[in-house]
Amino acid sequence: MKHVSLVSLVALLVGTSTLLALDLATLNQRSNKGFEPVVIKDWKAPDESTIPNNLFGDTVRYGKALVSETYKYIGPEVADPKMRYAGNNFACATCHQEAGTKKWSAPFMATMGNFPQYRNRDENIGSIEERVNGCMERSMNGRALPENGKEMRAIVTYMHWLAQGIPVGAKVSGAEFPQVDRKMVMSRAADPIAGEKVYKEHCASCHGENGEGVKREGKANGYEFPALWGKDSYNTGAGMYRVLRSADWIVANMPLGADNHNRVLTDAQAYDVAAYINNYDKPRPVKKDREKDFPDAKVKVPDSDVGPYDTNHTRHQHKFGPYKGIIIPAK
Ligand code: HEC
Ligand code: HEC
Repeated sequence: MKHVSLVSLVALLVGTSTLLALDLATLNQRSNKGFEPVVIKDWKAPDESTIPNNLFGDTVRYGKALVSETYKYIGPEVADPKMRYAGNNFACATCHQEAGTKKWSAPFMATMGNFPQYRNRDENIGSIEERVNGCMERSMNGRALPENGKEMRAIVTYMHWLAQGIPVGAKVSGAEFPQVDRKMVMSRAADPIAGEKVYKEHCASCHGENGEGVKREGKANGYEFPALWGKDSYNTGAGMYRVLRSADWIVANMPLGADNHNRVLTDAQAYDVAAYINNYDKPRPVKKDREKDFPDAKVKVPDSDVGPYDTNHTRHQHKFGPYKGIIIPAK
């Protein structure tokens, strides 16, 4: 279908950074790097036993540890107050599962070669360090890591190591976001009440009746099952707070053990449960100044619940859909 192929072309050009915006033709044009990306179908994580025993290897290993156990090194409960950069007890791997190597779970193998890139959120060409700090300030509800500090250097070095052999600008199968049925999201709103039923049946056993999750014993030890809302979760500026973004990730990754080819939820269930966990009655930290994100409303993500918008649809419709008239496919 023509529609689908154009949408995936956009996804291809902008990596995982953007979903569908209001004016896809404009977004497409701004994201264009002017060369055809190499397509890689079979990616396997590199063998860790090949990490060398030198400063580079130590830095890769520290980067991997920071991604897998963020809470232990830069979380809100670490002993040294200066090192408390993250505001919640998550790890990067809480969402970028398996230390950023699980396909269809926002993995990092294609990340290094896809930055710098056009960022519609800032209307600028963004660096990899700025992108990491985007997740630090939003998904991790914390503050930015110093760009030349040991921790940022280690995270980026780990991403570099993961990307070995992948050409600049390449599109790697499994690095892009899966998508719940776009016809469905165009035609109906996500339903938090139906989502509550899904939650009770498929999620509450790990994440808790009140989304509080299960923390491990001791300080700076993170979660066995992370919180989905409440004060120790991602904030309202995070991608996971957006219903479409969240549904796309959930459908291919939750309940724990699911993957893109072994799904448990239907697209409809993922869409509804994403609306349930991100509904307004679920408290979470608030990201300030979100109306300054996406300075050009023409290329703003469709599912932001903060204006200004380029259409006359309500804030409620932007948050929950239906997205007909909000997502306009390029011709
Ligand atoms: C609550 C979930 C969550 C957590 C925790 C999280 N991220 Fe993300 N991250 C996302 C999502 C979702 C995206 C993708 C798309 C978007 O919304 O832009 C993303 C995208 C990224 C990207 C861009 C990847 C690419 O190839 O374009 C980088 C880099 C990144 N995250 C790094 C990190 C790092 C480093 C941490 C830990 C310090 C982290 N993230 C923690 C959810 C999360
Ligand atoms: C068997 C336990 C289990 C079940 C059931 C489960 N999860 Fe998770 N969930 C996890 C774990 C563990 C993580 C962290 C990722 C990892 O360690 O791989 C996670 C991470 C998440 C995240 C990203 C991090 C965060 O806290 O925001 C979301 C969102 C999420 N789960 C939603 C759901 C939804 C929705 C369901 C029900 C459809 C669900 N989960 C069912 C265990 C579970």
